[in-house]
Amino acid sequence: MELFDKSKIEKEIRELPNGILTILLDTAVSLNINSIAIVGGVVRDLITKSKNQDSEIIFNDLDLIIEGETSIYVKELQKKLGPERVKVIRNNTTYKTSEISINGIKVDIATAREETYPIPGENPIVESSTIQNDLIRRDFNINAMAIELKDNKLLDLFSGLDAIYNKKIDFLHESSVLDDPTRIIRASRYSAKLGFRLSHQALRQIKDTVNLWPWNWHIGDNADLAPSGLSIRLKMELELLLKSNYWKNALKNLQDWGGLNILDPKLQNDQSLIEKVFIAKKSNIEPLTALVYESKYPISLAQRLHFDKQQKEIIEGACQLKKYLENLTVNDLYKKWPPSKWTSFLEEINANESSFILEICKENPLKEYLISWLTNWKDIESPIKGDDLIAKGWAPGPEIGLELKRQRMKLIDEEIIS
Ligand code: CTP
Repeated sequence: MELFDKSKIEKEIRELPNGILTILLDTAVSLNINSIAIVGGVVRDLITKSKNQDSEIIFNDLDLIIEGETSIYVKELQKKLGPERVKVIRNNTTYKTSEISINGIKVDIATAREETYPIPGENPIVESSTIQNDLIRRDFNINAMAIELKDNKLLDLFSGLDAIYNKKIDFLHESSVLDDPTRIIRASRYSAKLGFRLSHQALRQIKDTVNLWPWNWHIGDNADLAPSGLSIRLKMELELLLKSNYWKNALKNLQDWGGLNILDPKLQNDQSLIEKVFIAKKSNIEPLTALVYESKYPISLAQRLHFDKQQKEIIEGACQLKKYLENLTVNDLYKKWPPSKWTSFLEEINANESSFILEICKENPLKEYLISWLTNWKDIESPIKGDDLIAKGWAPGPEIGLELKRQRMKLIDEEIIS
């Protein structure tokens, strides 16, 4: 089909340098590599666009599979194009993959493989195989097609073309979710992005697998013991989903399908989750941090998802803030507090501003004070500087700090009266 012609593909995907697909093929041929093919999203999006001209090809990377060693192939490519044009980002010998860039474009090359999952949901064992076998282990029929570069032919073993024409998403086999539960998140993203429906069988597979919970680690177990490969992929897929333009529909899909149970049942059942994440996003809070904060055990989920130090600090700060405020409400005394007392109290907690925003989004009953501190009190400075006090004859030392604080607090209380 003309659609799969190398020059036609380069025309459709403008990011690809002219003639690059022929160079990629010639390099494989020079190394006696039998087969080299484009796989994954590019193939899916090329076909989708041919059917619906309004659909956009958002190019992230070029995924290639070869029946050969990726590091040897990459070396040869560097010889052909020069190290200036071909840069190696990472070679992974265990997983038989190489990440490179060609003219700044990301290209992922993988040895065609078979995968077995000795423990469900953990990293697979990889063995070299044929391109056909490589396609069998993939997530959905719409993602399991390949374009062979040597003859410009589409390899479609699982009716991916039909699925695109019918706007349907199906898993390739019955243990797809068991092998890799992040595929639930991927399905929700593709469904929202492409406007495709999840098939009944696929939905049943999601529900049955999540209900049976066939994985070794359970929610509530020690977060440090959660399988790290899966946790990192979960985080990556969630970030990808939440940063997309269609994140609301994707998150709704996840809830509708019971998919958020793999993260936390409270997130699954929260009817205003999308609204809360939306408000946090508008307040410049990273959406995944906001989502995790809505879970039952945010600190544990942040740990499980391998949050970085800053993300963890925001979550921990918000939890601390919540606890302090809960303790305050055991009596009514706080109702008589002047702004200066509130300011001292809130600043002693030493939480990140984002932690305050998280608690505000979560509708803390004392949120009006958090808003006042965030939007007003925190920015009020002492009307004089330390140098002014020294010029007036104060001796340098801690007394100066206390006086500056006193003057700042006085001003904070006056501001509210004026
Ligand atoms: N894949 C898979 N299971 C996963 C992740 C990826 O089977 N959990 C396979 C799919 O065939 C997918 C390909 O690896 O198409 C490449 O994955 P990725 O780069 O994440 O996504 P794309 O399909 O290329 O599409 P997009 O960038 O639009 O998400």
